[in-house]
Amino acid sequence: MPAIISKASGKIILFGEHAVVYGYPAIAVPIDTIQVKVSILPAIKKEQSIIKLRNINWQDNILFTSLDENDPIRISIINVFALIDHTPPHFDMTISSSIPIAAGLGSSAALAVAITKGMSQFLGIYLSNDKINALAYKSEEIQHGSPSGIDNSVITFGRPILYSKTKNISQIEIKNVIHIILADSGKRTLTKDVVALVKKNLEKNPDFIKPILAEIGGLVEEAAEALLHGRIKIIGSLMVRNHIALKKLGVSSIELDQLVESALENGALGAKLCGGGKGGYMVAICDPASCERISSGLVADGATHIISTKIVGSKKENNLC
Ligand code: PMV
Repeated sequence: MPAIISKASGKIILFGEHAVVYGYPAIAVPIDTIQVKVSILPAIKKEQSIIKLRNINWQDNILFTSLDENDPIRISIINVFALIDHTPPHFDMTISSSIPIAAGLGSSAALAVAITKGMSQFLGIYLSNDKINALAYKSEEIQHGSPSGIDNSVITFGRPILYSKTKNISQIEIKNVIHIILADSGKRTLTKDVVALVKKNLEKNPDFIKPILAEIGGLVEEAAEALLHGRIKIIGSLMVRNHIALKKLGVSSIELDQLVESALENGALGAKLCGGGKGGYMVAICDPASCERISSGLVADGATHIISTKIVGSKKENNLC
């Protein structure tokens, strides 16, 4: 039997993180240049299942039975096993990933999606995208408490989406190619800690925090319109406003602010933190001609890693769910 191979991309939240937790819409796009790849074969040693982790800086082989009860890899596998009524066969699974971990780029959701897709194929079960999405969300819940669901959704559907917890997920149309630079602040934080911080601030000071969340929600509506019509300068200025709102919310950091400032000073059309914040990556959009200058400036101003990529304009093809 040839190996089952499944892949899932990373993602960025272009607009609306944190406010999305409180029911406002947000926009996320998949980033194909960073991916999780899962490959599954029937077990060579027939009596045990092995997980082989292959990352850039380290490698490890782990027995499936030795994974912690709440290990995200185990949870994603068990969720698929629960769909069959017989003992699952032993397997050799190799996981490799180029998505930076705990950096706001969707590493945990991509892992859940890639394992869910791969393991269901290995067991010969057909799963719709909706089902894959629901299972990946279950895995995300174990790790993140009560995530909004935007990460697993954009990664499952692999299209730019307008997401809200209360409405259907819709694909958004993006006119033209948008060149983006992702810059690592070098700091790592857990999204659930930053989400908890916003919740605490909201409870302590609702009159200050609630309008910021509403403001972010409003920016997202404007951004969806600007993306549809390819109004790149408006998209950029909305990103800057989104960053300022996130800063007021208390989820930015000195390093992220510095990177945003650096990108803008070197000619970026817009820049903001992306994901949970307090660390992780910043996203900037730029004209192709100025991308290199912006990247060099970001490195000079403290970025520990740069990813240059693009969001490819996509036509709306169908309803996602
Ligand atoms: O840090 P990430 O990539 O997991 O993004 C989190 C986005 C939040 O809105 C802060 C949380 C959520 O559940 O939507």
